[in-house]
Amino acid sequence: MEDHRLRSMLRALRSVVGEEHVLVDPDVVASHVVDWTGGFVGSSPAVVRPGSTDEVAEVVAACRRDRIALVPQGGNTGLVGGGVPLAGEVVLSTSRLAGITEVDADAGQLTAGAGETLAAVQRAAAGAGWRYGVDLAARDSATIGGTVATNAGGLRVLRHGTTRHQLLGVEAVLGTGDVVSRLGGLVKDNTGYDLAGLLCGSEGTLGVVTRVRLALVPAPGPTVTSLIGLATVADAVSLVGHLRRAVPTLEAAELVLADGARLVAEQTGVVPVLDPVPPVQVAVEAVGPPDPTDALAAALEAHPGVLDVAVATDAARAVALWHVREAHTEAIARLGVPRKYDVTVPSPRLARFVEQVPDLIRAVDPDAQVWIFGHLGDGNLHVNVTTPSGPGPPRTGPLRTGRAGVARDAVADAVLGRVVADGGSVSAEHGIGTAKRSWLVRDRSAGDVAGMRAIKAALDPDGILNPNVLL
Ligand code: FAD
Ligand code: MLT
Ligand code: ZN
Repeated sequence: MEDHRLRSMLRALRSVVGEEHVLVDPDVVASHVVDWTGGFVGSSPAVVRPGSTDEVAEVVAACRRDRIALVPQGGNTGLVGGGVPLAGEVVLSTSRLAGITEVDADAGQLTAGAGETLAAVQRAAAGAGWRYGVDLAARDSATIGGTVATNAGGLRVLRHGTTRHQLLGVEAVLGTGDVVSRLGGLVKDNTGYDLAGLLCGSEGTLGVVTRVRLALVPAPGPTVTSLIGLATVADAVSLVGHLRRAVPTLEAAELVLADGARLVAEQTGVVPVLDPVPPVQVAVEAVGPPDPTDALAAALEAHPGVLDVAVATDAARAVALWHVREAHTEAIARLGVPRKYDVTVPSPRLARFVEQVPDLIRAVDPDAQVWIFGHLGDGNLHVNVTTPSGPGPPRTGPLRTGRAGVARDAVADAVLGRVVADGGSVSAEHGIGTAKRSWLVRDRSAGDVAGMRAIKAALDPDGILNPNVLL
């Protein structure tokens, strides 16, 4: 950006949010320009931290006037390069849009600022005698605004659905500068377009979410957590179908393979719960009332193919059982920058996909190490690829260039091409971001994409919000 344009932009931003909330010190800006994986590294002239919806609206208006692009950023735990400025955009941090501003214990609802962490929302819900239905391992850093912007899934979609299913309303500033606000928590409200539903999963491309109204689910009663060892993924798919029928309060069914379990043990120093490590493990959790322990035990007894079982009925032991699943992301990241593919595969094709994908990947990248885990109950697999020789240079721009880009494309073709051929989705829960932008047109129809472009043009006519994400 030319000097005079930069100076004028910084003046405008400072006049809205105050000098101390326009960060330009390169050491401070640095943490906002690299993503959680380290695979996407950009640059930015400034990080602006508005403290209210009105300030967000003024920031958007100033940027619109001067055609300056913005990247909304919450906890920066996104995994598809959508929350970092890869083309020199200004970062709009939601860190000051925090606070749980209203809890309605009778209705089982709360209102939270976009910058509040998921864990803080979970605590506020528990404090009111309820529970928030979304949970994921990045809970202490991911913001509630980020989870809405990505329609985050996580560990309990099987029972409670994705973030969109909890969302009763949002307050947001659109790319036009208009403020939309519907936080009354009306369960039934058919007055026109569902703007909250539209903004949910829009990845910061249509508006900046500033506050959200969430529905809560009943507080947990007796809970049973179990790690189940099996011989094959086909056995695991069949077991999960059986458990869903036999244990109606089942809310998590997560897949772990032997390589991943051993990696987690190596990288974290925690001894595996199931030893010897079985070829396949499924981590399940059922949450009463009523107490699901006997129903789970009976269902496991009745199912052939179960090799080993560990059970926890208290919270500390449950954490130990969950470790092998939840620590995958961290353990893989310790090997270097992974290529991450987050896909849904239709249930009848899932076992064959898990069996065949490693060979498809190694056919184009013989050194690749392939790690597969994920949310088996939702058909959502995480296929992660690392290379012993290191990851190659990080992605520094919105377009793919150079040798690393070519290798990446061949692996993406192998994994995502297969997903599309199988009738799955190239993004189950992380979003399209910049990472999978070229895949949107291969997954969605021309009509779908045209509809999305029309919405983008209407709500962000100057293309200033996350211009390199999604479309
Ligand atoms: P960011 O990373 O800051 O941003 C993500 C996207 O949302 C960007 O496009 C950004 O521009 C946009 N955005 C952020 N805030 C706003 C806002 N207020 N208004 C408009 N746009 C905004 N994801 C899952 O779905 N399920 C999982 O199980 C899961 N597990 C994870 C485990 C680990 C260890 C890690 C590191 C990540 C995991 N994720 C998971 C991914 C990530 O946590 C989610 O995508 C989360 O929703 C991102 O929230 P954030 O606040 O960090 O958003
Ligand atoms: C998970 O389910 O653990 C996450 O989505 C994170 C990941 O894919 O690494
Ligand atoms: Zn996940």
